[in-house]
Order: sequence, then structure tokens, then C-alpha cells
Amino acid sequence: MAKMKYGHLIKKLKYEDSNGEYMTMPVGADLEGLNVSFAWGYRRQLGAWGGDGGVCHVHPYGETLLFSGLDYDNWNSFPAEIELSMGEEGGKHVINSPTVVVLPPGVPHCPLVSKKVDKPFGFLAVSLSGEHKTEHVSASGAPSPAGKKYGDLVKKLELRDINRKSGGNADYIGWWSGKDMEDFKLNFTWAFHTGLGAWHEKDPHVHPNDECLLFVGLDPDNPEYLGAEIEIAMGEEQEIHVFDTPTVVVAPKGLVHCPLITRRVDKPYSFSAICLNTEHDTTFLG
Ligand SMILES: [Fe+2]
Ligand SMILES: [Fe+2]
Repeated sequence: MAKMKYGHLIKKLKYEDSNGEYMTMPVGADLEGLNVSFAWGYRRQLGAWGGDGGVCHVHPYGETLLFSGLDYDNWNSFPAEIELSMGEEGGKHVINSPTVVVLPPGVPHCPLVSKKVDKPFGFLAVSLSGEHKTEHVSASGAPSPAGKKYGDLVKKLELRDINRKSGGNADYIGWWSGKDMEDFKLNFTWAFHTGLGAWHEKDPHVHPNDECLLFVGLDPDNPEYLGAEIEIAMGEEQEIHVFDTPTVVVAPKGLVHCPLITRRVDKPYSFSAICLNTEHDTTFLG
């Protein structure tokens, strides 16, 4: 078989086990040098989160935190209650539904504390930097009513039922974009899928920005399991790649990609398109 030209852009996710919680944390160097890092994983433990999630900190770049349930049949549910401290005063915000937290550069955030966990849930952090730059700061701990200053940055994520009758695109999807935020060059989707077939009608397509396509499974005990077999065409050559494990596909700006075709589905799975632009900008070529 001829050497694949775009095989390096199809990256199997590598998970780490931290006390029964599986996380994958690629940085820019793992993503073809893109100006983005992300962390995706499954949380289940009660109490204070470890790592940077355990201490108040700031970044010189924007970051978003997404909290989602893992239950396709209850797609807008969230089976836990998480407390997030934000701001210099350490004001506390409660997360008990699917949520996106938007953190502009310099906004102090964390610790995160899981107060109640009925079932494991999913967590996706996206940072607008290829390298982690984190400075720990001390919150004063002075009482501050929840939502006083930073409540607008905690946004309920409403997944919508697409009422899909055919094709492999999302059944339930929510999204966030930085279009109203100065220089927050990020928009992303979060979705649950079960459909078979082509995702879009007019592929291939191209964007003026870099994009990561994240395919993950919904079994918190089995992070290597996707539950589907996916085919994607890459480049003007339409080189076909197929995968059936959790994967991130890197589509650098200007690179033609798709069609995306779901060949087989054994279990519902999740997908996020992480686009490094304030708004979604797609040119369909099909
Ligand atoms: Fe952070
Ligand atoms: Fe795309």
C-alpha cells in the first residue's frame, strides 16, 4: 500500500489513568503545532480535583471548560454537582447541568470540587495555547455572592435535538463561539451521535482556521472504546482514513477535508469540533 500522506493527522487518543479517572491531554506539539491544547476525560471522584483543578490559577490565554453527562438517552442531564471558584474573591459557582465556563485570559479560576457525583461525567478543557502557562494565585477567600462578578462566564449548554432521520451527523448538539468576545478565537460543538452515513451533503470542505475533530466514547470505564467506525477523507486527494477508537483528527487551516462517513455504530459516542476562529467559517466544495 502506498504511504499515506495525511496519516499523521489522524491521532489515536492516549489516556492516563489517575485513580480510576481517565484523561487525555494533548498539547500543541501533539497536534501538529496548533495553538491549542485540550484535556478530555471522565470524572467520578468526590472532593477537590487534582492538578491545576485543585488550586486557584490564571493563564495568559483564554480557556473554556465543558461539563457534560455521558448518557445519550438523557442528553441534557448532568449527574453531578461541581463547585467552581472564580475571581479574586474566590466566588463559588455551582455546576449541575451541562455547562460551558468561559475564562478570558487572566481570570482566576479553581479550585474545582465535586460535591455530589451520582454517575461519572465528561470534562473537556480547551486552552488557546499550544503550551500550558499557568500561574498559581491565592484567592482571598472573602465572601462573595455566587455569580456576582463572573456569573456571566458560566453558561448553561443546551443540547438541541436535531430530529435526525438519516446521515451520521449529530443527534443532539450544543455549541459555543467566541464571537462576542474580543480575541477569543475559538468555537466548538459538543454532540451525541448514533447515525450512519455521510455527515454533510456538500463535502469536502475547508476552513480559514485550524480545526480539531474529537471523537470520544461514552464509557467512563473503557476510555479506549469509541463504539463506532468512522471514515474521513483528507486532502484534495481525498485520501481515506478509517478508525474505530477514540481519535482526534487535525485539520490545519486551508486543508481540504471530509466527507466524514460513519460506517458502523455499536454504541452512542460523542464528537466535538474545536475550531480556532471566533465564528464557524466553512467553504463547502462538493
Ligand atoms: Fe485553568
Ligand atoms: Fe471541518
